[in-house]
Amino acid sequence: MTIYDASPYMTGNFAPVSEEVTAHDLLVTGSIPDELSGRFLRNGPNPRETPVSDTHHWFLGDGMVHGIRISDGKAQWYRNRYVGAGSGFGPNTSIIGHAGKTLAIVEAGPLPVELDDELNHIGPTDLGGLPSGYTAHPKLDPLTGELHAVCYQWPDQVDKVHYVVVDREGTVTKSIPISTPTMPMIHDMALTQTYGAVFDLPVAVDFELAMGGSPFPLRWFNDYNARIGLVPRTANAEDEVIWCEIDPCFAYHPMNSYDADDGTVVIDICEYDSMFDQDRNGPFRDSRPRLARWTVDPTTQKVRRETLDDGVHEFPRVSDAVGTLPYRYGYTAGGNPNTSEWFYTTIKHDMAANTQETRNWGGHCEAGEPLFIARESAAAEDDGWVMVLVFDAERNATDLVLLDATDIAGDPVATIELPQRVPHGFHGNWVSD
Ligand SMILES: [Fe+2]
Repeated sequence: MTIYDASPYMTGNFAPVSEEVTAHDLLVTGSIPDELSGRFLRNGPNPRETPVSDTHHWFLGDGMVHGIRISDGKAQWYRNRYVGAGSGFGPNTSIIGHAGKTLAIVEAGPLPVELDDELNHIGPTDLGGLPSGYTAHPKLDPLTGELHAVCYQWPDQVDKVHYVVVDREGTVTKSIPISTPTMPMIHDMALTQTYGAVFDLPVAVDFELAMGGSPFPLRWFNDYNARIGLVPRTANAEDEVIWCEIDPCFAYHPMNSYDADDGTVVIDICEYDSMFDQDRNGPFRDSRPRLARWTVDPTTQKVRRETLDDGVHEFPRVSDAVGTLPYRYGYTAGGNPNTSEWFYTTIKHDMAANTQETRNWGGHCEAGEPLFIARESAAAEDDGWVMVLVFDAERNATDLVLLDATDIAGDPVATIELPQRVPHGFHGNWVSD
């Protein structure tokens, strides 16, 4: 049933870089705001060894983190470092700053790896009590400082996930095992002030593929009982989870989620018709992601789905200040529905006015996840900057671009030239000093 193309994930700006580089005093066009002080960090797969198979999967490979330190109106340094000492599957998906620690993270098994402020390896951590692997997408509650996560572990925990809460000091304070019928791929979660949401959707491990040695034994199951589990934030046991039916579909990333006044849970999310069904070799092969709204009703235990925007959208982000709360603005990477494995625009969504502002990077440039960084004592939800890594194929180079979030199509506030290209990767965060 496997249909493979030659992997595109070793060519163009998906190809790994081989050098660990340190560079100081980067060239800046425009003006970096004096008040920005911190590190822009981004993680992604960067195989050390050239994969022997043309079916190499993008999601696999050693993690490599890239960092740019900004302070005093200057881009002080760029560094890129492998996450782990050995070769193979490790934390390659995201990187966060929490409780003063810098953590490279991934789903499905490998523990978070702590790095120092200059991205040097410190070592794995179980955060004082992880029962399994962690996740690439813990959700921050901006009101409590907690991180909530849905975690799973291959191959020794294939019948359960864990709902894990880490407090603002960085220690596991709650861990609820939740039974699953098999090992679904649960990449992300949604969090509101009342519930966490478990996405039990039709991509799961195929044990025959696994026994056959597939390095990526996940596929779509047509007959899967797709469901969303609402875990009350007060819950201490699995029997408190409210399971709600959803039509078969798939999603990696919610933009945001919140409690509606009528008691439902609203999840705005980048939604796919299917994933790893006809083609297991990449996330954009079976279908392209659109922006959708899932309204989960804990009373009727049903999920209503509606499309908010049928363009191609991924890597959704919002201001950390409005995570778990009603919000107005979201940011996505936008793609060409016909031609691309990657993204050509940066889009700001006004969820209240149902409008968009699009920055088109010009055809030869490819832009990743847009991070929103709020101005200190921001006067409005979008008072701040959008930071995004932009690869220019004509220069074979990557810039870190700062946009005014209130005018993302306008001239960049600052463009920081990096000393080497940054391969297309996954997620990052701004870690403020
Ligand atoms: Fe992700």
